[in-house]
Amino acid sequence: VAPEIDLIAEINRLRKEKNAVILAHYYVDGAIQDLADYIGDSLGLSQQAAATPADMIVFCGVHFMGETAKVLSPEKKVVIPDLNAGCSLADSAPADKFAAFKAQYPDHLVLSYINCSAEIKALSDIIVTSSNAVKIVEQLPKDQKIIFAPDANLGRYVAKKTGRDMVLWDGACIVHVDISEAKLKALREKYPNALLVAHPECKDTILLQADFVGSTTAILKFVAETPHDEFIVATEAGILHKMKQAAAGTGKKIIPAPATENNTCACSECPYMKMNTVEKLYNALLYEQPEITVPEDIRLKAYESVNRMLEMSK
Ligand code: 13P
Ligand code: SF4
Repeated sequence: VAPEIDLIAEINRLRKEKNAVILAHYYVDGAIQDLADYIGDSLGLSQQAAATPADMIVFCGVHFMGETAKVLSPEKKVVIPDLNAGCSLADSAPADKFAAFKAQYPDHLVLSYINCSAEIKALSDIIVTSSNAVKIVEQLPKDQKIIFAPDANLGRYVAKKTGRDMVLWDGACIVHVDISEAKLKALREKYPNALLVAHPECKDTILLQADFVGSTTAILKFVAETPHDEFIVATEAGILHKMKQAAAGTGKKIIPAPATENNTCACSECPYMKMNTVEKLYNALLYEQPEITVPEDIRLKAYESVNRMLEMSK
């Protein structure tokens, strides 16, 4: 990019010219969130991707999110700023291994968290997100046998909430399991009145102490609507951008939960989400690449499970 280019002005010109919509997850950099047409959690973003009248979707998130958008809107061009923006959870479930695992439980329904590849979605019966997993499981018959993949922490949380016994695939999000329990304990001693809010991808030892557990959208809503002074937030730090904007002028203190030394940031940052930059967003809009493609046979099967989720979330 030539240094004299005004990236924001160019992005605004190109998105209009190309009838493109910019979708962003709460974990991407604040500068991108400020540019987006829509910011949301995984459910909200899929609903937007399914309904948008735009010709092109620029998805600022991670690869599986762009793939889900393509599964739902195959006639639209879907680009993401960085093709390497993957996800540890999606990587934890390779399709061949998962197919063999599934074959061991032929009478089970396969529920997969949206954080998985299109191949895994094609092998699944219903997709869920952190905001609708409990609601969807509750709609299933009580004696329905269930496999839940790929996030074991979310699976355990949903099993506990619904009282269902589920077979879990052992996957995890590197960001959420990397929240330091020792440092969190010290932080809670420093702020004994702070409410702890957590994403269900966190370990159960953290979820057990949490005052509120929910998706990114639900956590934002809880902090915005709860009349309280201090909150400790156990999820990816990108969420603080909107949370602090919403809390401006209220005097609420918002404290990110501390990460272990494995994380490059003192708070928890997703290395994949942080691969999105304004410059890469501009290039994706300008060159219309890297483009997300999904083989049609996989797309058709994945569409079934994703669409079932959209239907069951109404
Ligand atoms: P939600 O925004 O749906 O809660 O998902 C969190 C996440 O880890 C996305 O990668
Ligand atoms: Fe995947 Fe975790 Fe990053 Fe979300 S925060 S994209 S689940 S690695």
